[in-house]
Amino acid sequence: MIADNGMSRRTMLVKLGFLLNGIVGVFLAVPIVRYLLSPVIRERKTGFESWLSLGGLEQFPAGQTRLATYHNPVVNAWDGQTGDVACWVRNVDDQNFQVFAINCAHLGCPVRWFPQSNLFMCPCHGGAYYQDGSRASGPPERGLFQYAYKIANGALLIKAGEMPTPGQPVAETAGTRTTCA
Ligand code: FES
Repeated sequence: MIADNGMSRRTMLVKLGFLLNGIVGVFLAVPIVRYLLSPVIRERKTGFESWLSLGGLEQFPAGQTRLATYHNPVVNAWDGQTGDVACWVRNVDDQNFQVFAINCAHLGCPVRWFPQSNLFMCPCHGGAYYQDGSRASGPPERGLFQYAYKIANGALLIKAGEMPTPGQPVAETAGTRTTCA
């Protein structure tokens, strides 16, 4: 009887040990599995839903360049305001737009628009760009990166999940309008 109780106690402790190890194992495995699956999850997030509105067209008067902000679709919930990304919107003629990444093509400092001189200026090393985003002077070797855009229901949308890369020349990214049915 005593031996039976001893065995059952030992068996119970072994089972409890397995159970606790299992729980700890699950807690350790969840972040690892999430990390391994993150490319798939991220791809799903940035798919069709990556078209984001910058606001109504009335916010971007013809012939002017205005600052706009969107919330990055590939951030985590706890990223807060760091997920807000600024960009420059140029309304060329009410039919055609250009949406520029705010980051300088040299080392990424945020560029500012100066309507007095019709130039984007970079405060870091003096890079300058014309109003169409092409390089004017300074260290940048190319023009500003641009987002693909489309107009739908009176709003300007950009494809925020697909940032242009330095590998794309200006000619390929300029006028990347997508017509919307
Ligand atoms: S980061 Fe803009 S000129 Fe260097």
